[in-house]
Amino acid sequence: MIKAQRGTKDILPEEITTWQEIYKRANELFTNANCKEIRTPIFEATELFKRGVGDSTDIVNKEMYTFNVGGNETSITLRPENTAGVVRAFIEHGMDRLSPPVKLWYMGPMFRYERPQAGRQRQFHQIGVEIFGVKEATADAEAIILASEFLKKNGIDNLTVSLNSLGCPTCRQKYKDEIKKVLSPYLDELCEDCKVRYQKNPLRMLDCKNEKCIEIFNKNEIKNVVLKDFICDECKEHFEEVKKYLDKTGIKYEIDKMLVRGLDYYTRTVFEIKSSLLGAQSAILGGGRYDGLVEMLGGKPTPAVGFALGVERLYGLIEKIEEEKLDYFVVSKFSDAAINLTLKLRQKGFKADFDMQGRKFAKQLEKASKIAKKAVIIAEEELEGNFYTVKNLETGEQIKTTEL
Ligand code: HAM
Repeated sequence: MIKAQRGTKDILPEEITTWQEIYKRANELFTNANCKEIRTPIFEATELFKRGVGDSTDIVNKEMYTFNVGGNETSITLRPENTAGVVRAFIEHGMDRLSPPVKLWYMGPMFRYERPQAGRQRQFHQIGVEIFGVKEATADAEAIILASEFLKKNGIDNLTVSLNSLGCPTCRQKYKDEIKKVLSPYLDELCEDCKVRYQKNPLRMLDCKNEKCIEIFNKNEIKNVVLKDFICDECKEHFEEVKKYLDKTGIKYEIDKMLVRGLDYYTRTVFEIKSSLLGAQSAILGGGRYDGLVEMLGGKPTPAVGFALGVERLYGLIEKIEEEKLDYFVVSKFSDAAINLTLKLRQKGFKADFDMQGRKFAKQLEKASKIAKKAVIIAEEELEGNFYTVKNLETGEQIKTTEL
């Protein structure tokens, strides 16, 4: 028997009401905040992610679903995240010429070839928001506010935002150099991935999950460099402003100097929201500012900030919503009468269904009581007398009526 691929999951009918509600809540909240929904393709040119997400990241190096198509001439990749795709669409459709801000939101599947475990899948869904055109810290605050409002709307309260500033490319270079200097005596002891990161993007080493590497990064001389304020005055001022806005809105945050995020495009603010209920895969959402990405992908220089949330991780934390019962189930052995009435009820906006197999009365009623609030009975008597018998399946009460 052919089964679903490892790391993929069917979203079953009994789960779908909650999924639909998550989409509805996102649509309501983000639309009210002046964000427009965007749906971009699930596959893009491989080059987009290599350049956009960065070729020193695990995502690009190890986790992409990449195919050659069209006689091996074109390399495409299933999107591992959606910021690069949204930026591509933003440029392609001239949105970089619109009056800022341009605020977009999305929901859809992403693909990463990771080792599946609880909370980590190979096909998973993200809901994200991207805000283009605003360099001011108000946009960073708005992204974090929208993220936490969305969690609140889903009944998840009392969370703390982890916050850090990675500085701009200029001040970050100094930080990278210092980290490399202080780590050079330990280079041989680092894991193979970190040896590569040391050359390509030293900050990414701080995100390593290897125990030996973590032990090294916890040494005082390394910690001292990590904890040192390396960012330039402008970046510092920007970060102070972000914190000020968060203080004013009462959003709780803590500064985490080890927070570097797994994608290369970030500048200045980065943030994550975690939940202890999620175990090892504790991040529900993550995001940050990426002021260089639009220009790097061929657009006009445009500052931007955004976040994405893992929908499966959110689903695991929220109260599930039961599917609502049908308003009516038509119980009758006269299929033409049943079809006609069901159609009429649906046209009036009721949720209604009927028995398609002409089963025995008792069987039909049993089915009705499982899935509907009321049964409409059409037996010989009703047909001849031109009326319906309506049975309230919750109270047992029964009435005769000519109108529904
Ligand atoms: P990310 O941190 O790679 O950021 O992913 C965002 C969220 O997607 C994570 O916090 C997690 O909840 C969920 N997620 C990631 N990988 C998996 C997986 N394998 N299985 C289940 N859930 C997963 C981004 O993708 C950036 N594009 C976010 C962003 C938007 N930054 C700026 N704008």
